[in-house]
Amino acid sequence: MTSSDSTSLPALYAAHLAEQQRRTEQALARGGYDALVIASGVEKFAFLDDRPYVFQPNPHFKLWAPLVQHPDSWLVIRPGHKPRLVYCQPEDYWHVPPSAPSGFWVEHFELIIVRRPEDAREHLQVAGRLAIVGEADAALDGIVPNNPLEVLNPLHYARAVKTPYELLRLREASRSGARAHLASQRAFREGRSEAEIHRAYLAASGHAERELPYGNIVALNEHAAVLHYQYQDVAAPARSLSLLVDAGAHSCGYASDITRTTGNGDATFQALIDAMEAAQLRLVDQVRAGVDYRGIHLASHREVAGVLRRLGIVAMSEEAMVAERVTSTFLPHGIGHLLGLQVHDVGGFMAGEDGGTIDKPEGHRYLRLTRVLQPGMVVTIEPGLYFIPMLLDQLRATPAAAQVDWTLVKHLSAFGGVRIEDDVACRDDGAPENMTRDAFAALG
Ligand code: GLY
Ligand code: MN
Ligand code: MN
Repeated sequence: MTSSDSTSLPALYAAHLAEQQRRTEQALARGGYDALVIASGVEKFAFLDDRPYVFQPNPHFKLWAPLVQHPDSWLVIRPGHKPRLVYCQPEDYWHVPPSAPSGFWVEHFELIIVRRPEDAREHLQVAGRLAIVGEADAALDGIVPNNPLEVLNPLHYARAVKTPYELLRLREASRSGARAHLASQRAFREGRSEAEIHRAYLAASGHAERELPYGNIVALNEHAAVLHYQYQDVAAPARSLSLLVDAGAHSCGYASDITRTTGNGDATFQALIDAMEAAQLRLVDQVRAGVDYRGIHLASHREVAGVLRRLGIVAMSEEAMVAERVTSTFLPHGIGHLLGLQVHDVGGFMAGEDGGTIDKPEGHRYLRLTRVLQPGMVVTIEPGLYFIPMLLDQLRATPAAAQVDWTLVKHLSAFGGVRIEDDVACRDDGAPENMTRDAFAALG
């Protein structure tokens, strides 16, 4: 493949920048602004301390430049101009400063290197009305983020539709994540602790912990019932019954977000995993242009009702289980979200490029995406079925409790629950692209 090939990385990146330039010029015109100025962000420190938090770049910055560890840098985007990158490369012998910019992407920018954050200011003060995007603490004298919604709304709305370059990055992120998930499953089968499984994941992902797109969820046994379980026990439990890992990777700032659940051979729990896997694949198949994502979420409740009924966990009709919200005891989160530069990417509820909100279905407050799917959107599909003590206690107090096989619930509670999550691109030619399954399949 040569660099003139329209599918090569440099060519895709050039087309990606052209599309961002087009979207930005339109957004500036809509809002009545002349330039978009984007702060990468500043490092933040613990209160009364010199310990920095992990740097999280402004997603608007990494949309343009494949730079994720670059505080105090800026972009200036103007109609008819090459994007300006003000690149902060301090002279610092305490830390490793960003290296000199290099690679296929550099030629697309008017590059200005500064040695001190405050030296960026003179290169940002271009003529006209500035839309300055960033957090308040990025402000320099005369350059104060104003984050005008008239400009941000159309950019956030458009960002849901990925360019071919972004799809390539998201596929790469799925590949790194899938490799790491397989390593975590091997560590589970060896009886390792959550902390050891986490380290096996990191080693195979090629990431340091600070580079993860979100904190790894590595949950053994009952911990799998905690949706965002945030610890990693250093001691292995006496018996490892189940492993739920919800963890991703990134490629140049684009995230994957993958969940797999593994059992220990218990036939009932394996039947639950298998039933959820089949349901998840049916839901993935609904990721098609023109489909209302809220419909996929509502379908996930019907799927969970079917699983609860077929496995004998709840002896109600599927319709009644959904109508009486019994399924929400077992599936208390949304079916997924937009994915991209952020794991929970922006714009999930937007009615249009001028803003406005598309409501969630009543009673489904944790759904994060309510838009109609378009080709190029990348979403997660992550149904779950959990045994969460707090929610089961609430169910016990309802008339539906009489229809629940509590002995079976007790048996399955020791496994925590099941979640299966793939990253899926909506295509214009029908069937969805399952980036995560493709990545696992390529690993054999
Ligand atoms: N890992 C967070 C989520 O799945 O949304
Ligand atoms: Mn996840
Ligand atoms: Mn997710």
